[in-house]
Amino acid sequence: MGKLIIRGGVPLRGEVNISGAKNSVVAVIPAAILVDDPCTIENVPDISDVRMLLDILNEMGAETYLDDNGVLVINTQHLKSSVATYDMVKSLRASYYLLGSLLGRFKKAEVAFPGGCDFGYRPIDQHIKGFEALGAKVELDRGIVKLEAEKLVGCQIYMDVVSVGATINVMLAAVKAEGITVIENAAKEPHVVDVANFLNAMGANIKGAGTDVIKIKGVSNLTGGVSHSIIPDQIEAGTFMIAAAATKGDVLVKNVIPKHMESLSAKLIEMNVKVEDGGDWIRVIGTDDIQRANIKTLPYPGFPTDLHPPACLLLCLAEGTSTITEGIWDLRFQYVDELKRMGALIKVEGRMAVVEGVKRLSGAPVKAVDLRAGAAVVIAGLVAEGETEVYNIDYIERGYEKFEHKLRNLGARITKVEE
Ligand code: EPU
Repeated sequence: MGKLIIRGGVPLRGEVNISGAKNSVVAVIPAAILVDDPCTIENVPDISDVRMLLDILNEMGAETYLDDNGVLVINTQHLKSSVATYDMVKSLRASYYLLGSLLGRFKKAEVAFPGGCDFGYRPIDQHIKGFEALGAKVELDRGIVKLEAEKLVGCQIYMDVVSVGATINVMLAAVKAEGITVIENAAKEPHVVDVANFLNAMGANIKGAGTDVIKIKGVSNLTGGVSHSIIPDQIEAGTFMIAAAATKGDVLVKNVIPKHMESLSAKLIEMNVKVEDGGDWIRVIGTDDIQRANIKTLPYPGFPTDLHPPACLLLCLAEGTSTITEGIWDLRFQYVDELKRMGALIKVEGRMAVVEGVKRLSGAPVKAVDLRAGAAVVIAGLVAEGETEVYNIDYIERGYEKFEHKLRNLGARITKVEE
């Protein structure tokens, strides 16, 4: 495991290219299980979550080839197993997408429950509810979720909570079911739409992805041979936008879909940061006078929970008192202690943090407590006086492609030291 060493105080300037979306690709890759023929997936980010997922599929008998340009060819024709053991999936939360795709293809699946996570218990009751409604028998045996169905039959499912994972998983299981499945109170995140587009390109009949009612008309077969390009990563783009604002820099964030960034762009403008956008770019120009704001994280199109820790860091640099309220996860505030070590004034009360703006942060040894918390402490290091050492960076490498390299290209003094 390495660490990052950052010498802060340099405004970020220049251009950065955003990679393919982590939370889309970790669902699109399992979706390829639903088809026998090879598929090509482009704009695949080189992150450890992708490498772990490909290792799992290879172990199950798939053939995968990811080149240096982010083009992945995946052939699941000879998949010999519908089982993913705890050892295979324990480090990858998104392995739950194997449940929906294996069930959709083999009518059975055995996937170890990936367990809790670093910011709270992650239930999959809504995924299970969906699989059962489609006709699967579900058993939890020694930490393994076992699904089996004689046949899958379309049905109407009302999600009790808006869940990205459950929406996509039910979509995966339902594309080849008999008849029509309707998911109500579905998640509307851009990656839900991306997965639906990939499945439709292979012959699925999914309508309404991106709204809260998704209709899936089952088809008997999907055909591969398609080439699908992963959408730009909304959260990586947001992280660079916040880094530009926090360092009072001027950054052109390229290969983005500005529509996906609206909740953040609006908040930055409210905070007196200058934001311009065009077809596939957003330019963020920082200011000496960042204004306070209140933020609440919500399902899309609300403010994304995955930008909560970096956004909180920005509030630390604003004039006056701000609040940030977490609307999705129970334990998302663990990064707060790390920012406090750098001089931040944050008080957590339940699901809300009250943030007192400070004039300066000072460098310190800190750790990434999860992926997005890691991004927040890196940005804090870019802003802080003196040197910051960031530990546990394998969290960051799970979801940000070449993070320190991209920051260095923008002028940041950041180096990775292998330990
Ligand atoms: N929930 C349930 N029951 C379920 C599923 C979810 O109660 O069966 C609850 C969760 O406890 C949570 C809320 O519903 O309170 C939303 O969870 P969701 O299912 O939407 O989250 P997820 O699919 O497990 C994805 C992203 C997360 C992101 C959340 C919310 C992937 C692989 N992960 O998780 O991304 O925080 O949606 O937008 O897509 C990250 O990228 O750092 C990350 C954690």
